[in-house]
Amino acid sequence: MKKKINKQVSELIPGEARVLDVGCSKGDFLFEIYPKITYGLGIDINPKKIKSAQANSYNYKSIEFIVGNLSKIELNSHFDYSILKFVIHSIEYYEQIQLLKSVSKYSDNIIIVDFVPTNSLLSKCLINIDEVLAGHYSKFKKYLGKGMEQLIKNSGLDIDKKINGIYDFYNIWKINDS
Ligand SMILES: C[S@@+](CC[C@H](N)C(=O)[O-])C[C@H]1O[C@@H](n2cnc3c(N)ncnc32)[C@H](O)[C@@H]1O
Repeated sequence: MKKKINKQVSELIPGEARVLDVGCSKGDFLFEIYPKITYGLGIDINPKKIKSAQANSYNYKSIEFIVGNLSKIELNSHFDYSILKFVIHSIEYYEQIQLLKSVSKYSDNIIIVDFVPTNSLLSKCLINIDEVLAGHYSKFKKYLGKGMEQLIKNSGLDIDKKINGIYDFYNIWKINDS
């Protein structure tokens, strides 16, 4: 399932792009799109996740990983695309706004992938269990209540395109910020 979602997101990114993956976790997405991009930077606040990404990155010369909160650090790079994949639902509203504003400083295009309410009972149960186990449940519920579109607007950004996910529990929002 994860690979299929990554493939759908990857198809939205043109070849030769410079890509920032915010909340990259163990780096899977950058490893998967490696052949088509010129440079990838993954950032995550969780040092264990970045340690694992770095351990697997020795074969991937144009990909780097750093530990940090993008809202609290300064980067010296600019990117064609920034990806926020299943990150927004896991943080508080004020952090969501800060993060979107920070991402927009560094990128011409932003791709956000995140949950939407689903009618499928199975998807609902699995996602709720996953969010409880990950410790994000109350933030996830607040996020679903508010919705992504209003958040993007409140961050001073405009949606360029909204794309249905290949599974009914997520959507993709593309923001052109150049
Ligand atoms: C639910 S995971 C999603 C991971 C990955 N993007 C994926 O699609 O599987 C959310 C990740 O975002 C990271 N994160 C949350 N807020 C962040 C921030 N402000 N800056 C960098 N990483 C952040 C968390 O540590 C976590 O690894």
